[in-house]
Amino acid sequence: MKKVFINGYGSIGSRISKFIKDDPEIEVLGVGKYSPNEKVNRAISNGFSVYVPESKKDSFKNYKISGTIETALDECDLVIDASPSGQGFLNKKNLYEPKNIKAIYQGGETVYGEKAVSDLLFNSRVNYKHAIGKKHVMQGSCNVTGMGKILQPLREKYGDRILRFDITLVRRWADLDQTDKELTDTIEWSENPHQGDDVKSYMGKDTPLFLRAIKVPTRQMHLHILDIRFKDSPPDLSEFLDIFKNEYGVAILHTAKGTKEVRDYADSIKFSFKDTNMIHIHTNMLESIGDTIKMMYSDDQTGIVIPENHILMQALLFEKKYDDAMKHTEELFHMGEKKKLLEEHFTKK
Ligand SMILES: NC(=O)c1ccc[n+]([C@@H]2O[C@H](COP(=O)([O-])OP(=O)(O)OC[C@H]3O[C@@H](n4cnc5c(N)ncnc54)[C@H](OP(=O)(O)O)[C@@H]3O)[C@@H](O)[C@H]2O)c1
Repeated sequence: MKKVFINGYGSIGSRISKFIKDDPEIEVLGVGKYSPNEKVNRAISNGFSVYVPESKKDSFKNYKISGTIETALDECDLVIDASPSGQGFLNKKNLYEPKNIKAIYQGGETVYGEKAVSDLLFNSRVNYKHAIGKKHVMQGSCNVTGMGKILQPLREKYGDRILRFDITLVRRWADLDQTDKELTDTIEWSENPHQGDDVKSYMGKDTPLFLRAIKVPTRQMHLHILDIRFKDSPPDLSEFLDIFKNEYGVAILHTAKGTKEVRDYADSIKFSFKDTNMIHIHTNMLESIGDTIKMMYSDDQTGIVIPENHILMQALLFEKKYDDAMKHTEELFHMGEKKKLLEEHFTKK
């Protein structure tokens, strides 16, 4: 059986490990921790063996650790790196390449320049088959993953009829579980946001995407404000929405008024981590004016990339066909059922 190690047990690593430990096709060897804090015991009580860096072993002497990350990596077939932004590249150079292990990196890394972790930024909706045969692949960040779920179906349906996509990313400040991170009372703008280039790395550099990003003091998801400008008159809104009806990981909500309402509902029906693992089109904010369709969708920042990591893992480890990988991911994540529950709750009154 293939063995997988998750290096990092923060917002993303803890979620990935929780879901994939139930995958009967793999064995989760354990998780990597770098700070001796209460999360070590939390990981152990969640059923994981905890490994720590050789150089920090002594600082973990009060915890029941299972060994060093270096030796755990020697035994594994694939590592899912869930380290802080930029650290994945260093791990690649210092650990994964020397040990000749396959690796998945997260959205805080890059596919551009000297610090590129891969030449492929993964989005299951766009480039699944390109991941087959690769050793090192980067999973897109939450915003980049969410954009692919909207832009790719639109491009497939309308192609050259689309003149441009203008998008403003309204990004959350921190995650729900980052309780030590305070929200600052300000709206920050981001110079040269990476998300546009990241999307173009998989949709093509000529994609007519124009992007701005700001950060606001909330923990409750991202919101994308997207204007789609057509060369001729835009499709009617019901045809437009139909495109997303059967999209994996896209829910169509009619009555939500804000991101917290969606998360609160996810919490009330006991979705793991209060995550929906998807994006939510808000039809009460959808309108057609002249040559433009204006839409908004919210993006579950922590949840959306978790099934993506699982889909990608199957491409790298088993070289599965797309449909088989998607089917198996659905068996673990139950996205269809979650989408149905969300859509029923936020249905038209
Ligand atoms: N949070 C999101 O919503 C989100 C969404 C999509 C993508 N991402 C991306 O996912 C990655 C992880 O983000 P996160 O939000 O999960 O960060 P996080 O909550 O800060 O967790 C980072 C984890 O990495 C561990 N770590 C520290 N040094 C490490 C090293 N050298 N190698 C491996 N792990 C190390 C930390 O361990 P200790 O706590 O023990 O020090 C911590 O468990 C980033 O690339 C981020 O951009 C995040």
